[in-house]
This record gives sequence, C-alpha cells and structure tokens, in this order.
Amino acid sequence: APATEYQAEAATLSEATVATNHTGYTGSGFVDYVNAVGGYIEWSVNVAEAGTHTLTLRYANGTTVNRPMSVAVNGAVVQTRDFPGTGSWDTWADAALTVSLNAGVNTVRATGTTANGGPNVDRLSVSGSGGPDGQAP
Ligand code: GCU
Repeated sequence: APATEYQAEAATLSEATVATNHTGYTGSGFVDYVNAVGGYIEWSVNVAEAGTHTLTLRYANGTTVNRPMSVAVNGAVVQTRDFPGTGSWDTWADAALTVSLNAGVNTVRATGTTANGGPNVDRLSVSGSGGPDGQAP
C-alpha cells in the first residue's frame, strides 16, 4: 500500500514552530525546533492493521552536527535516531525506522535530545503492513 503522509506543520508542536524560510518543503511549510533539548512534533497516525510499519521522517540539517531525536510511539520511546547533516537547510533527506503500531490511532512523537534541538522536519510518511486505508498490503 502507498504511504500516508502527515505534514509536520499540521502536527502538535512543543518548542518548535512552523517555518517557510528554506526551499524544498512539501505542504505549506516545515517545522523548526527551538535550539534546546525536549522540543517535539507529535502526530496522530491512523492505520488499519496492527503490526510492523515504516515511519519515514523527511528532514534537513544544514549543519555538520548530528541532531538526534528520540521517537516515541504511544508514549514509549522506541528508538533514538541520528539525523546527520544534509548539506544545507534546503536539502532534505529521508530517515526511516521500523515500528509496531496498533490498529487505529497512534501517537508518534519526535523529540530533540540535544541542546541544538531537532533538525528541520517536513513530514512523516507511514507505510507498512496495515496500509493507509484498510487495504491489505
Ligand atoms: C538556522 C536555520 C533554521 C534552523 C536553525 C537551527 O536558523 O535557518 O531553519 O532551524 O538554523 O539551527 O536549528
């Protein structure tokens, strides 16, 4: 099944703001984390079937310093992932991780774990066993 896309600018934000001051984003903007530990983007993600799904975060990091984030699903951190430099703030890359989701609505929260905050984030794509609309994979 195709991925379902969830824009960052439509998610719940803490210590992060919607911005448009770099090119190449999808939707109406991207999210810029405050340069501090603990800012987050939280999405509500709806999948038809429980099980393994791929989360893909489209991000930019115009520095040469990694901007790690922890990713929590339904309140439990499942992974802390590196978001290394992409060469410029206008250059976006995909970072994928595999998680287990429940059928129905899940929360996915990406939290910056260093004093620089997270990278800029354009969107979250969700694909995998359940599919976006109840279709079998
Ligand atoms: C620059 C850049 C922002 C970025 C910020 C950062 O200000 O324009 O888009 O979020 O650096 O270091 O996080």
